[in-house]
Amino acid sequence: MRNPRMILALLAGASMAVLSSGAFAEGAAGSAEAGKSKNAMCIGCHGIPGYRTAYPEVYNVPKIYGQQQAYIIKALQAYKSGERGHPSMQGIARGLTDADMADLAAYYGGPHK
Ligand code: HEC
Repeated sequence: MRNPRMILALLAGASMAVLSSGAFAEGAAGSAEAGKSKNAMCIGCHGIPGYRTAYPEVYNVPKIYGQQQAYIIKALQAYKSGERGHPSMQGIARGLTDADMADLAAYYGGPHK
C-alpha cells in the first residue's frame, strides 16, 4: 500500500543526507594529482614553480601557490559568478567546474616540496 506522506518523508531524508555529506566533503574533495594536470592554462600567468609571476607583467598577477584551498576555490567562484571582476580570470573561471576548482585548489594549496 502506498503512502505519499511516507514517500515524502523518505525523499526529505535522502536530500538532507546528500546536503550534509556535501558539507562534510567541502575542502577535502579535490585531488592534487588531477589539479596538476589541469593547471596548464594557469602556468602562463601564475608562473609555476614557486609564485613568480610571468614576465613582463610581474606585478599584478597574485600568488596562488601555497594559498589556502578554501580561498582559491572562493576566489575562482567569485570570478565565475562575476562578483570578482577581472576579464581574464572571469574567462578562465567560467570554464571550470566545481570539481576542477577543487582539484586546482588541492594542487596549488596543497603541500609542495
Ligand atoms: C591570462 C592570465 C591568467 C591566467 C591564464 C590565469 N590567471 Fe588567475 N589571475 C590572473 C590575474 C591578473 C589575477 C588578479 C586579478 C584580480 O585583480 O582580481 C588572477 C587571480 C587569480 C586568483 C585570485 C588570487 C588572489 O590572491 O585573490 C586565483 C585563485 C587564480 N587567479 C587562479 C587561477 C587558476 C587556477 C588558473 C588556471 C585555471 C588561472 N588563475 C589562470 C591572471 C591569470
